[in-house]
Amino acid sequence: METKNFLRMKEGDGEFSYAQNSTLQGRILDQVSKPLIKYAIRSLLSNDNNTHFLEIFNVADLGCGVGSSPISFISYVIDTINEIYKDLKLDNSQVPKINMWMNDLPSNDFKLLFQNLKKLEESKGDDCITSCLFMGVYGSFYNRLFPQNFLHLVHSNYALHWLSRVPPSIYNESRRSKNNGKMIVCETSPREVVKAYRAQFHKDFSQFLECRSCEIVSNGYMVLTIVGSPSMVPHHPCSARLLCKVMDNLVSKRLIKEEKAKSFDLPLHYPSKEEIESTIKKEGSFTIEKLETLYDCFAKEINDIEAKAISSANSIRASIEVLVCYHFGEHICDLFFDELVRVTIQHFYNEPNASVELFNIVVMLRRKID
Ligand SMILES: C[S@@+](CC[C@H](N)C(=O)[O-])C[C@H]1O[C@@H](n2cnc3c(N)ncnc32)[C@H](O)[C@@H]1O
Repeated sequence: METKNFLRMKEGDGEFSYAQNSTLQGRILDQVSKPLIKYAIRSLLSNDNNTHFLEIFNVADLGCGVGSSPISFISYVIDTINEIYKDLKLDNSQVPKINMWMNDLPSNDFKLLFQNLKKLEESKGDDCITSCLFMGVYGSFYNRLFPQNFLHLVHSNYALHWLSRVPPSIYNESRRSKNNGKMIVCETSPREVVKAYRAQFHKDFSQFLECRSCEIVSNGYMVLTIVGSPSMVPHHPCSARLLCKVMDNLVSKRLIKEEKAKSFDLPLHYPSKEEIESTIKKEGSFTIEKLETLYDCFAKEINDIEAKAISSANSIRASIEVLVCYHFGEHICDLFFDELVRVTIQHFYNEPNASVELFNIVVMLRRKID
């Protein structure tokens, strides 16, 4: 089944919600993406491009989700444009209007997103000379979402490692997964499964680039942050190892049927920098202006081991709870994530300097001139 029909981060702003458990995503945006976004905006609005009197500046956040990251992104774009035009001492009529297009799948918590946007709008005082319109755009970013030659800047944070589907070739005729009930690629995954996930990423990311190449103006920019792997050698982030252990434990305790475990796989792939670069080069519409990588971990700010483990487990839960409940049933949800907390606490006690780490790849692309 296609991911667009069932994927959604945990809605609302409760204890397990995505909004309350996405600090890491915001940190990567602050540390790595924002300087690139500023560079892109300055370049697009500079004299050289002769776009001083651009009337409308179209910006899209693809897979925007909900919580602090999309708000922080929008706020940053507004402040940066404001700053540029104040420096230039232009009057209001010469400042472009910002159209901010917020995209995600239809099941995203757009209601909370727009409530937060309203608060942001109210917080921007009279000092703000740019005016901004916010629009929600539902649909998969693996399809066309906007008209031809429309967007100036595209951003996507922590979304492109979600594939459009689990690669169909990992299932045999009786719908059993060749990944042996591990739900995510890990040490014991057969080579064939690893290859199938890689091929699916290549296909999806190529499609993403093709769609954006139609929608982005010549010389327009994209800043993409993708959770990835540090090398082409299959890499198993700690979160994947913890999830595999949870599944093993629940099957051996007979809380989950082996059959059921063997038909559950997450549509997630952590590409290497080489996979990303080669797909961009092959597709051919964009140049790579910058590529940066950075390790970071969940709950970095917490010292207490158990609190750190619970927070790390909650961050994983916020992203996959809906998928787990959908497959195994609501009654398994708390059991599953209580086990994840136990396994994570154990992991922190076993390895004194342990963390639940992610490898982040941030790439800035520029649309070639047609
Ligand atoms: C981990 S969240 C990231 C949210 C936000 N960008 C952030 O930085 O916190 C991934 C988001 O990507 C969205 N997503 C995944 N696949 C998508 C697709 N094909 N089209 C649009 N959105 C997608 C999910 O619904 C989810 O909201």
